[in-house]
Amino acid sequence: MSKLHNSPIVGKVLLEFEKLSSTNTYAQQLLATSAPEEGSVIWALHQTEGRGQMGTAWESAADKNLTFSIILYPSFLQAEEQFYLSKTVSTAIVMTLQRYFPNQVRIKWPNDIYVGDEKIAGILVQNTLRGSQLQSSILGIGLNVNVVQFSKSIPNPTSMRLKGVFIQDLRQLLEQCLQQIDLHYLKLKENITIFDREYRLLLYRGQEKASFLITKTGEEMIGCIQDVDPQGHLMMIMEDGKHRHFSIKEVSYR
Ligand code: BTN
Repeated sequence: MSKLHNSPIVGKVLLEFEKLSSTNTYAQQLLATSAPEEGSVIWALHQTEGRGQMGTAWESAADKNLTFSIILYPSFLQAEEQFYLSKTVSTAIVMTLQRYFPNQVRIKWPNDIYVGDEKIAGILVQNTLRGSQLQSSILGIGLNVNVVQFSKSIPNPTSMRLKGVFIQDLRQLLEQCLQQIDLHYLKLKENITIFDREYRLLLYRGQEKASFLITKTGEEMIGCIQDVDPQGHLMMIMEDGKHRHFSIKEVSYR
């Protein structure tokens, strides 16, 4: 166990592992069996059974990438406000990456991080509710750093290395991520809507015409992303001028 300097919350406790199945799973076990301090970070150099959104897997080659999870207790958020946490962490990861890729980093709704048209990082947020409030939250972040080869099954992946940036010190990059998440989390606590504008401006394909697939019907539709509503639904204006809100299960990008 170690401690990062100047970390008010996120990174106060850092648990490092050579190998873990999944840092999110480990965080869940910690929460079930003990009372980890808020801001505890679980970091694995090699994650063997990483988990992604919607039951997918997250692949990560040993010692090449960042895979870590953060435990928070955001009890100031109501259940229907939980997407604000996703907004906060994705905005923080964008801010971390902006210094390496100025003006190129975007958030593909709900919380994939893109450089150009390729995915460089993924975020898996797992919340637990107590009544109408958030009790605990696990923010799992996978960032492709020095990896140069991916399985064919992964849709349009990239890494910092493939985009021309070689990172020698993974720990330093982790610290940069944690500092940003820490700063953003403190701001969220003061005002939960503080990142609304920034998130909207960072949306991948925001305010432009794009093609989407409606999951239920298989229909392809053209729409323009306006924003994301407080519940995390994608707000679009369709070709016929109608305003529609979609959940992650209802729509996918073409
Ligand atoms: C996604 O894009 O589907 C989300 C990927 C999240 C991957 C990270 S890696 C660290 C943490 N532990 C996991 O098992 N998953 C998350």
